[in-house]
Amino acid sequence: MCGIVGYLGEERAAPVLLDGLEKLEYRGYDSAGICVVNGGKFFVVRKKGRVKELAGARALEGNPGIGHTRWATHGAPSERNAHPHVFGKISLVHNGIIENAACLRAQCEARGEVFSSDTDSEVAAHLIGRFYGEKGDLLGAVSAAAELLAGSYAFAVLAEDKEEIVCARMRSPLIVACGPDGVFAASDVPAVAKAGRVAYVLEDGDFARLTRGKIELFDGALRPVVREAVALEEEEVSPGKGEFRHFMRKEISEVPAAVLNSLPDLSKPEFSEVCKVLCQTKYLHIVACGTAYHSGLCMKHAAEKFARVPTEVFVASEYRYADPIVPPGTLTIAVSQSGETADTLAAAALAKSRGSVLIAVTNVAHSSLTRVADFVLPTHAGREIAVAATKSFNAQLAVLYALAVQLAKTAKCCAPPLAGLPVLARETLAASAGVASWTPYFQGARSVFFLGRGADHCAALEGSLKLKEISYLPSEGYAAGELKHGTLALVDGRTPVVAVACDEALADKTMNAVHEVYARGAAVFLVTPFSALAQAKEVTASVLIPRCEPAFSPILSVIPLQLLAYHVALALGKDPDKPRNLAKSVTVE
Ligand code: AGP
Repeated sequence: MCGIVGYLGEERAAPVLLDGLEKLEYRGYDSAGICVVNGGKFFVVRKKGRVKELAGARALEGNPGIGHTRWATHGAPSERNAHPHVFGKISLVHNGIIENAACLRAQCEARGEVFSSDTDSEVAAHLIGRFYGEKGDLLGAVSAAAELLAGSYAFAVLAEDKEEIVCARMRSPLIVACGPDGVFAASDVPAVAKAGRVAYVLEDGDFARLTRGKIELFDGALRPVVREAVALEEEEVSPGKGEFRHFMRKEISEVPAAVLNSLPDLSKPEFSEVCKVLCQTKYLHIVACGTAYHSGLCMKHAAEKFARVPTEVFVASEYRYADPIVPPGTLTIAVSQSGETADTLAAAALAKSRGSVLIAVTNVAHSSLTRVADFVLPTHAGREIAVAATKSFNAQLAVLYALAVQLAKTAKCCAPPLAGLPVLARETLAASAGVASWTPYFQGARSVFFLGRGADHCAALEGSLKLKEISYLPSEGYAAGELKHGTLALVDGRTPVVAVACDEALADKTMNAVHEVYARGAAVFLVTPFSALAQAKEVTASVLIPRCEPAFSPILSVIPLQLLAYHVALALGKDPDKPRNLAKSVTVE
């Protein structure tokens, strides 16, 4: 997915576009570009890499303009594939995926049109450019092209001989905003938020025409439509890194506060409707991706242990095409930090269409997920900027565990209290400082295993994902007892193993796996509340975390694993905040 911006107004467009793109860089940073109109001509600057590479373009004269920050889907991250794409008299930026691009491109090439990139997006530029050349009607050209496109898109399109921007939306987020200083289009609110401006969220199939001081909205048949207006506030100043070198490290330090602020008191009247739903819940389905999927796995342990409610956790991208069975009495929980993950949104909508009640657990108020959900249980982790999710995971667990406890109460089952978790998280953070000294064992590693059983396995999966995504070390989270059934063959002296053993009933079993990998030369690192285990001769180093209910322990045990990933990434010279190939919000399939 990518970020797009457009601006038409009183100021020079270039600085406005660049400021907007910086706010959207969380959506991708493979390349960036802007196009402004000056004297009836396009001026385009495109660069591989981050928005800051466009600094030289800030001085460009001209208005209106459009801009783009890219997360590559079709075509390598390069200047050649950077947006905006120009064809004929139009210039276009696109977020989404044109699924029939290959076929359309072949048709364009058969007409003699020459492409200058490997992207799917350029096909849309060709179609719109051709249609615009025929009639000189930009809205009509974008609409005619949209009829031929399959897939997802948010477009902002300029014509060099018109003072207007035309936008279109289909399954990719797009807002337009209007204020005394001009009209704007963007993939997300932070790029346009300023007191005095009013924003409109486009719906799928909508078009927008932005002219001087004016926004017109149209439905798919180009009939004028009215969409709800939202008054924008000044965007809260982006949180800085404080005393930390990186956002990721700062955000790990904020885990205890995220847990404290997110733990809901479900006995409050505002949750009475949610509690009524819990009373009728026979089955729990959880849909999510990545780290949020791991939160779901943790929830399964808690919900089944305390409430005895059968719980299934689905990778959202699989669920949406799996023809899922949704029996009456199913409550679906969609978990998403951003609330904008395309797969999670699609899975949530499918669950609802099959009769399930839908609860959204998300960190972003007013995100797309909140609009499809019957109920929203927010996490209050605060804005998370590092691409690797940390505090948002712990915050999700706080909300999900509270739901599990409430489910247990409605089923007249016992469940332990959660109130102590924030303090325990603070103690865990303090106890985890030593993981920085483990990095030499990981610097020369061929691969890494994270092992655990039960809820510890969920923490192991999340620890492994963190390490992979920011250090690029091959790593696997594995059920400790399963290792011996084949995977043990991969373990040798260059395979550090991190074991998580927080459940007394399973810890000895997990230690069996520790013995097995130690015997094959692996250095073993342990996260546990049990000091006797930490003293085992097989353990190279350990973090002793506070003891808590085992089903809730991932909310603590993941903290040293988050820190370990951070320190290993630093030791390997990687940028933990902006790992290669990734983006914070994944709004494409
Ligand atoms: C986590 O570190 C990842 N960056 C990623 O797996 C993320 O959790 C996933 O893309 C889901 O995002 P969401 O929570 O915003 O839906």
